Amino acid sequence: MASVQLNSIGKTYPGGTRAVDSCTLDIHDGEFLVLVGPSGCGKSTLLRMIAGLETVTDGTIGIDGTVVNTTAPKHRDIAMVFQNYALYPHMTVRKNMAFALKLRKIPRSERDARVERVAEQLGIAELLDRKPAAMSGGQQQRVALGRAIVREPKVFLFDEPLSNLDAKLRTQMRAELKSLHQRVGTTSIYVTHDQEEAMTLGDRVVVMHEGRIQQVGPPMEVYQRPANRFVATFIGAPMMNTVDGKLESHDGRTTFACGDLRIPIDHADGDGAVTLGIRPEHLVLADDGPIELTVDVSEPLGDATDVTGRCGDIPLIARLRRIAPPQPGTTLRLTVEPGAAHCFEHTSGSRRD
Ligand SMILES: Nc1ncnc2c1ncn2[C@@H]1O[C@H](COP(=O)(O)OP(=O)(O)OP(=O)(O)O)[C@@H](O)[C@H]1O
Ligand SMILES: [Mg+2]
Repeated sequence: MASVQLNSIGKTYPGGTRAVDSCTLDIHDGEFLVLVGPSGCGKSTLLRMIAGLETVTDGTIGIDGTVVNTTAPKHRDIAMVFQNYALYPHMTVRKNMAFALKLRKIPRSERDARVERVAEQLGIAELLDRKPAAMSGGQQQRVALGRAIVREPKVFLFDEPLSNLDAKLRTQMRAELKSLHQRVGTTSIYVTHDQEEAMTLGDRVVVMHEGRIQQVGPPMEVYQRPANRFVATFIGAPMMNTVDGKLESHDGRTTFACGDLRIPIDHADGDGAVTLGIRPEHLVLADDGPIELTVDVSEPLGDATDVTGRCGDIPLIARLRRIAPPQPGTTLRLTVEPGAAHCFEHTSGSRRD
């Protein structure tokens, strides 16, 4: 196993696109780190630089403290799993899995033993003599995973490995990946644009936007204390509500004001333009609540109902528990759970408290 150090890493592609900018990060030995962000934010580029498949424009990449910027991919002892599996179509599963071991001149008996052990772990032992074309997407993805695991690399890199699978299989494979990491413990860097996958898999989550790291932390910390407006709205579904307005402090009490809407804020002070962030699950029914929501759409989920509506002309979404789905056109009185509102600087978007 190994630690990975990214020191002010940058990447400018030949056409001039600045895909990754000043990324500094220490990935701990044995950690499962997830890089998450919208399409085009530079996740794959960063991963490919760690693998050695893409040159580094500035900064250094270290593995266990040794700079590897110019080390060839095959000498980095890293295994990468891609979204499109990239299996050799003319080889059986057994040969696909053993291929890298053969290249490294590992004796046949050990190759066979490792392949069979990993195939057993991944539940694909009965597929060893099939070719990729004769398998489902989920089975092919297991083989791709198996091919990486048999190599016993220092680091695993995953680039959206589950995104070709249907929703149910994705959730199942996600849990299997997590359990595999708990058993094997190999340092892993996992790229996804799916914030739910990031939250559920990562020991730590790195949120990226436009080539830059926005926040690094354990999933719950990123969820509960997003560092800026971008992270706040990217992590969490349905998306956090944001309302532009201003803070007003009188007699030691702070209120957020936007038109007629006034919400007491119990953990921020000062004045000035801010964006208030409220997660849908932190809006709750209250007879004397400050928010009057006119319902546009109700979406029952079973254990809760997502209610989309307007307070004046401010669009809001609330995830309400234990109520019958309200009819369009009805009004609900809501309040924000104590301490649950987030304040961001209006211009920079940085968290205020
Ligand atoms: N080979 C390339 N040449 C030029 N520009 C590239 C190249 N590869 C990627 N880019 C650009 O670099 C930026 C980052 O791309 P990258 O593939 O790293 O994003 P990503 O976060 O992985 O996105 P996605 O979620 O869509 O896979 C994008 O603007 C992309 O168009
Ligand atoms: Mg990508």
